[in-house]
Amino acid sequence: MDQVIVRLLPAVPRPVVQRLSAPYIAGATLDDARHTVAGLNAEGKLGTVDVLGEEVTKAAEAEAVASAYHAVLDAIAGDQLDANVSVKLTALGLKLDLDLCRSLLATVVADAAARGIFVRIDMEDSTCTDDTLVLYRELREARRENVGIVLQSRLRRSLDDIVALAGLRPSVRLCKGIYVEPAAIAYQARDEVRESFLRILDTLLAVGCYPAVATHDEWLLERTLERVAGMSSEEYELQMLLGVRERRASELADAGHRLRVYVPYGDRWYEYSLRRLQENPALATMVAKATLGRLVPGGR
Ligand code: FDA
Repeated sequence: MDQVIVRLLPAVPRPVVQRLSAPYIAGATLDDARHTVAGLNAEGKLGTVDVLGEEVTKAAEAEAVASAYHAVLDAIAGDQLDANVSVKLTALGLKLDLDLCRSLLATVVADAAARGIFVRIDMEDSTCTDDTLVLYRELREARRENVGIVLQSRLRRSLDDIVALAGLRPSVRLCKGIYVEPAAIAYQARDEVRESFLRILDTLLAVGCYPAVATHDEWLLERTLERVAGMSSEEYELQMLLGVRERRASELADAGHRLRVYVPYGDRWYEYSLRRLQENPALATMVAKATLGRLVPGGR
């Protein structure tokens, strides 16, 4: 049933998608994001701000996204927020013009470095993996230290990728990976994805990387907590998405773990919202209520 609903999601009216996904998004404006991060900081949590948008089709759009990131960096520094930024390279033109993307990313990373702010490069679908890793490596080889990468445990290649990058001692956000990928390159079964996640985490810890463990999966969280027990809270962090398992996030922050929340904002909310709704276990009920409510007399 859930898989049927997931496939039907693109047919759900956009206003319904927007309403259902509101908890996952800080709002349309930078002010919304800064207020959300300030609130998280007050609860002892850190933020990572994402300007919504991906797959731009014109150079001017990529340049506008880069400008938005410069404004975010300005706001983080100006408000003295405990936050960094997360960047999707397709929003900076990865699929349009690799050189443009390289130069826009370099300016964002340089601006962030000047303000002492870290930049996390999100990982998108597998058609982006090679170029994303190349651009990351170039920045690190140019001695940019304030930049990190994401690896997806769903992808069979990720363990090899971390071994190849280990000499750079990268800061790695480890997540399962949200994109649907074929079996030839990606684990499909839940347990395989989990086992791969732990293999990569163990490797990250063994080679002295800074791991940012991004999951809401309680099974993986428990195993992560066993592994980091005894480590200083400066040596790793846990990450969750805005609007997901917030009570658990608070417990982890209160217990002294560095807990960072991913805070997306902007008006290009649709693709991100669809992905979050696909992962919500209550999706079928929510969509049924939201759509049937419009048809049933007295429904809201
Ligand atoms: P899983 O999906 O099994 O969720 C575990 C439990 O969490 C669920 O049973 C439910 O209780 C709750 N839950 C999860 N999602 C929910 C939702 N949307 N609504 C309500 N409850 C929900 N992916 C990627 O490919 N590239 C990237 O760069 C990133 N970046 C990233 C940053 C951060 C901070 C996080 C937390 C995640 C990502 N991801 C990502 C997404 C990631 O790959 C993955 O798709 C999601 O985190 C869901 O996987 P979990 O490990 O949380 O397990």
